[in-house]
Amino acid sequence: MQSLTFLGIESSCDDTAAAIVRQRDGAAPEILASVVEGQTSLHAAFGGVVPEIAARAHAERIDLCIEQAMTQAGIGFAGLDAIAVTAGPGLIGGVLSGVMCAKGLAAATSLPLIGVNHLAGHALTPRLTDQVAYPYVMLLVSGGHCQFLRVDGPEAFTRLGGSIDDAPGEAFDKVAKVLALPQPGGPAVQAEAAKGDAKRIPLPRPLLDRPGYDLSFSGLKTAVLRARDGLMAGLGGLRRQDRADLCAAFQRAVADVLTEKSRRALTDHPVGTFAVAGGVAANTEIRARLQALCDSLGIRFLAPPLALCTDNAAMIAWAGIEQFRQRGADDLTLSARPRWPL
Ligand code: KG4
Ligand code: ZN
Repeated sequence: MQSLTFLGIESSCDDTAAAIVRQRDGAAPEILASVVEGQTSLHAAFGGVVPEIAARAHAERIDLCIEQAMTQAGIGFAGLDAIAVTAGPGLIGGVLSGVMCAKGLAAATSLPLIGVNHLAGHALTPRLTDQVAYPYVMLLVSGGHCQFLRVDGPEAFTRLGGSIDDAPGEAFDKVAKVLALPQPGGPAVQAEAAKGDAKRIPLPRPLLDRPGYDLSFSGLKTAVLRARDGLMAGLGGLRRQDRADLCAAFQRAVADVLTEKSRRALTDHPVGTFAVAGGVAANTEIRARLQALCDSLGIRFLAPPLALCTDNAAMIAWAGIEQFRQRGADDLTLSARPRWPL
């Protein structure tokens, strides 16, 4: 197997990222450098990612991130075999910033160019970190994604199901907002939940009675809002214990539906490994439940290090290497795609 060293570029949401990944002769891949520059502070005042601000910041910072990654790896363009870039899905202005930058570099250096689907990057991460064998089942749970994938090869993905509305991270963030907790909501809700009683306040388990692996979080979020209003009725605000109990009940409801849908997916698709990715995979209750599920089914549970579970360019460089081995490169007509289902 040919030894390959790829530059990866990621700019599809609110992280500008560049990384260098190398795979020598069929050995385990090595991350030589991974630079991730978040934009949280730029969007903080607006209560969400503003696409124009994101695109401009990517365009301004991307070459600096690439330079930093190459310096860290101690590599020049002559040491690279190709450039892999996220070509979608995502906020189109940001994706374009990355794709234009990658095309410029490819044209100037004559290096091959390969466009990678951002979700494929997440989905192939278990092979970057742990050389997991195909096939495996993957659960992507973050602020923007929520889906079960069966992965049979570098470009062979089957979407088994996913959220029909909000992603769970989005629900954690909105629940934090209505309970006056800081953003990002996930860690704040988790900390409150640790002090609460998950059984006191009843909340729904959306879509649990429906067959298949689809999920829904928007109704759960509304149920939290209603419960909050009920608990506050006649009082000036929400009592501290009520807030903790509500967080615990919400987190338990999310963990219950994720665990049950995972059980179904893994029963219908018996594979050796179940992997998670995305910011919500950092939740300790959700992790513990999924770990226990895999233990009971005799399946390996894999949660890669958080820095590689959330948006980064190492996963894009790695997906580029795997896909390049399979299908070769793209050309300079590569286009940026706002929507690109796997
Ligand atoms: O993968 P990620 O960093 O970014 C994108 O979605 O692009 O995921 C961020 C999401 C946020 O919604 C955040 O609230 C959630 O992951 N999150 C958590 C926890 N840590 C982060 N949700 C639940 N529990 C956590 N401990
Ligand atoms: Zn992502």
